[in-house]
Amino acid sequence: MFAEIVKTTLLNCSLDDRYLVKYKDRVKHIHNALPHYPLTGWIDSPLQNQEGLLTPIERVANEIRACADVLVVVGVGGSFLGARAIQEALMPYFGLAKGGIEVVYVGLNMSGAYIKELLTYLDTKQVYVNVISKSGGTMEPALAFRVMRLYMEERYGEKVTERIIVTTDADKGILKGIADKAGYRQFTIPADVGGRYSVLTPVGLLPAAVAGVDIRALMDGARYAATELAEEDLGHNDAYKYAVMRHMLYEQGYTIELLASFEPGLNKFHEWWKQLFGESEGKEHKGLYPSTVNFSTDLHAVGQFIQEGSRVMFETLLHFHEIEGDLAVPFDARNEDGLNYLSTRTFNEINAISKQGTALAHAEGQVPVIQLELPKLDAYHLGYLIYFFMKACAMSACLLEVNPFDQPGVEAYKHKMLELLKEEKVISK
Ligand code: PA5
Repeated sequence: MFAEIVKTTLLNCSLDDRYLVKYKDRVKHIHNALPHYPLTGWIDSPLQNQEGLLTPIERVANEIRACADVLVVVGVGGSFLGARAIQEALMPYFGLAKGGIEVVYVGLNMSGAYIKELLTYLDTKQVYVNVISKSGGTMEPALAFRVMRLYMEERYGEKVTERIIVTTDADKGILKGIADKAGYRQFTIPADVGGRYSVLTPVGLLPAAVAGVDIRALMDGARYAATELAEEDLGHNDAYKYAVMRHMLYEQGYTIELLASFEPGLNKFHEWWKQLFGESEGKEHKGLYPSTVNFSTDLHAVGQFIQEGSRVMFETLLHFHEIEGDLAVPFDARNEDGLNYLSTRTFNEINAISKQGTALAHAEGQVPVIQLELPKLDAYHLGYLIYFFMKACAMSACLLEVNPFDQPGVEAYKHKMLELLKEEKVISK
């Protein structure tokens, strides 16, 4: 038996331990079938020796940190969300991590204003570019890379080859061809790992290392998760418990899951989670809609709806017991604001109590609450949590009887857009 890292608890609704009996065999069956799906290389990869992966990444990250002020990551969807999630969850709120440099993202939208402003911003800085695309042909990053490549060539001349790093497939794709021809250094996205499951490959690890994240600790956490969550017994696998709980709530008519955190640094982690579950499950007119909130901020925005609006959502509370950095509420002899009664407490203590209060209020409002508790917000536990969610997501999609690893619906918008662009139709300016 291993020490429990994520504790999954259903706080306030009528599923009881009978679900463990009801779903036991089905979960075991899916667990044993999962590795036979294509694109499941991520399941065991954290268990392999990591030196061949981490050493080259650290070498290039050190070079980038020594020679640049900014790393521009070009990518969209699974090719940027994970890196940005790790960076924002673990880096300081203001300023840079010790030894890290700024990492910014482009190719995640098609805003002309965004990319133009970025180029102006870069003009006074030394720059490296990491373009990330598994297919090598996605429109948003491909367009942004065209711009960034020309920009870098103009600024760095022949030296540009050192400053562009390509992360893509080992053998195929337009980007692979460009990289080979130009002689750019390359990192490989494993062929058996799909975009939204690729955060623990060079896709997420290189940008995170450049920002100053301890990627060895991150991978240690993922390795522990891969060991612990290899358990086929639902009663001893909290990722599967979470998958089954959300599946049962879905079957009871709850169609929206709200992932809720109490630390603003987790906002981008929410975005990564949203894509993971949204793209893996939303198929064949099935699936929970993944939505996210950051409390207490959003209690003053959508708190009213959660408490008293349509009864369609349940909440998954993500709670880290220990957050680095805290501040005691100061004593003020004037006490004009009447808050001296809180001066024996810290902000994090008050935040934790607000979490308890929120869970109790939402229980009263008949919003089922699943709680995921972790000891600490750091690289190790984040690595664990990333793997936890990927494993839970794969199980959950299989319970819905949809393929967790494809995204046929994403193609629809691309086809329509390409048709319009090729016909030179202009909808509006
Ligand atoms: O999960 C996925 O496969 C997608 O979200 C992709 O990551 C995203 O579409 C970007 O694809 P690519 O890396 O091929 O540019």
